[in-house]
Amino acid sequence: MNPDLDALKPYPFERLAALKADVTPPAGLAPISLTIGEPQHAPYAAALEALQAHRADFARYPATAGDPALRQAIAGWARQRFHLSGLDADTQVLPVNGTREALFAFVQAALDRTRPAKVAMPNPFYQIYEGATLLAGGEPYYLDCSAENGFRPDVDAVPADVWRQVQIVFLCSPGNPTGAVTPLAEFQRLIELADEHDFLIASDECYSELYLDEASPPPGLLEACAALGRHDYRRCLVFHSLSKRSNLPGLRSGFVAGDAGVIASFRRYRTYHGCAMALPVQHASIAAWSDEAHVRANRDAYREKFDAVTRILAPVMAFPTPEASFYLWPAVPGGDDVGFTRELLRHANVGVLPGSYMGRPAADDGMGRAGTNGANPGSGRLRLALVAEPRATAEAARRLRDFIERRL
Ligand SMILES: Cc1ncc(COP(=O)(O)O)c(C=O)c1O
Repeated sequence: MNPDLDALKPYPFERLAALKADVTPPAGLAPISLTIGEPQHAPYAAALEALQAHRADFARYPATAGDPALRQAIAGWARQRFHLSGLDADTQVLPVNGTREALFAFVQAALDRTRPAKVAMPNPFYQIYEGATLLAGGEPYYLDCSAENGFRPDVDAVPADVWRQVQIVFLCSPGNPTGAVTPLAEFQRLIELADEHDFLIASDECYSELYLDEASPPPGLLEACAALGRHDYRRCLVFHSLSKRSNLPGLRSGFVAGDAGVIASFRRYRTYHGCAMALPVQHASIAAWSDEAHVRANRDAYREKFDAVTRILAPVMAFPTPEASFYLWPAVPGGDDVGFTRELLRHANVGVLPGSYMGRPAADDGMGRAGTNGANPGSGRLRLALVAEPRATAEAARRLRDFIERRL
């Protein structure tokens, strides 16, 4: 087997399962899970109807590039949402089966193994960035995101000799697990560095539609390009998804958009990879990208939950005010996120994810990193995914607060 498989780290949920294995939660309390980022809100109904209406199309092979009507719907949505004067549906957009698949495949297609191949990524981070890098024969380079830098990568802390080896930089905005949003000027600074050092920027924006202030949608990488007059989106690629926006994580539908040259190579890779989107899924996706009312309603539901949970937890935990995503990233009283997670389950039957499981300490990599003091920047925090229905989410927050107050 491919020896690079041995380099993969255990996935956070594997580690969580091992942590919980010998814990017996109280029998009288129903379990509430805030662990997995799987939305529990109702999927967009019109998308499910389109899936049903077009089910006969499961009898046909789909094309890698997707149907022109889907690419048009995506391009139209992205142009409007990110104030783009142009985004060509044929050359600058490609449908994918969710961002996870695409983020992984993109690194396999893009990394040049004949020269040093560092891939920079936020730390803590969505684990696919690292796994994709290791399996493509690359080397992760971690950009620590801590309270000191507003939970955003400090790209100016990366030394020039590292930049020379970096081929891809991942951004995640809004961030998982921190909820931090990259401002337009920071996207633009990274674009400047990409031109100077010749790397690609892969901006994972799958949480872009879950923002709390209705008047301030998070900016995106293509928007930053457009504001610079960079309408060819050179070196830039964004990743979007219907999983969170439309509560359709099982549909497996998203898109990549940006630099036409990169998209052409990626499409070629995907022809062999064999991951075209099923035609009924394409119809469902057209319905979802063409409607905003259900997305606004989705945001309203998250806003209510954030308000309720913030009111309950603010007196006992410190956390950054979330701008977007559906995560809360509180500091653990006492600082031991792993021990706290176990005890919380044992006493309150609430499942959370230790922040350290999503980050890497410097000792793990030995490859150097930017903006670090060597610690795991996820340590001492929890990731709470506010995906359950409102009553269960508030109940989980109350149990969390009771648990902390009893320990104090
Ligand atoms: C940061 C981030 N990127 C990508 C994904 C993958 O989402 P999907 O493949 O459903 O689009 C997730 C899922 O939780 C995520 O948190």
